[in-house]
Amino acid sequence: MKKITITIDGYSSCGKSTLAKQLAKKLGYLYIDSGAMYRAITLYFIQHTVNWNDAEAVKEALRSIHLEFIHNQITGQSDMYLNDENVEPLIREMLVAEKVSEVAAVREVREFAVAQQQKMGKERGIVMDGRDIGTVVFPHAELKIFMTADPAIRVERRFKELYEKNRNITLHEVKENLELRDYIDSNREVSPLRKADDAIILDNSQLTMPEQLDLVLQWVEDAI
Ligand code: C5P
Repeated sequence: MKKITITIDGYSSCGKSTLAKQLAKKLGYLYIDSGAMYRAITLYFIQHTVNWNDAEAVKEALRSIHLEFIHNQITGQSDMYLNDENVEPLIREMLVAEKVSEVAAVREVREFAVAQQQKMGKERGIVMDGRDIGTVVFPHAELKIFMTADPAIRVERRFKELYEKNRNITLHEVKENLELRDYIDSNREVSPLRKADDAIILDNSQLTMPEQLDLVLQWVEDAI
């Protein structure tokens, strides 16, 4: 069967990655979490005290960064490796979440990440989620989805996810972080978060996971 490119963009914690993973599994496609790449770059900048407002320092640091997704046999998912180190748990921490949108707004960082994302999607048969995938990374994708959900529901979902790992986290902290990231992501100069003109909106506030998957599988059939 013909393989296509599927892009899923949207606000933070809309359930993009959950849907993208399930969709990729069902279709036998490759799933790429583009946000993990921005998170890994941010982690490197924090660890090496790189000033991301200094373009030269950013360019220099990017030359030392090697990113790779490697399949994890135990979880069945792809883990993000930064210079051969599995950074999967680290990049999900609040320390990274607090800075990632600032780092992702830097032109050189985006050029670096987008070039790699485009390479990964060359063969089609890919589901990639992020903020600029349908607008910038794969503007000719056959199926583009723009996800939204009620902000209160998004905060609740992310809080539950983070609380599992960190019992000190507060709902207020999570709410502030989501609002800040959405604001920076939507208002940055380079590739701001936007719905592509030809993207289909999926508001999943009231949909179960199986309902979303059924709906999107129908869209995939229509797009092939
Ligand atoms: O998807 P996730 O929430 O892990 O992404 C973390 C951050 O990475 C986002 O808040 C955004 O600042 C940035 N990002 C981006 N472009 C993408 C994916 C993520 O700017 N394609």
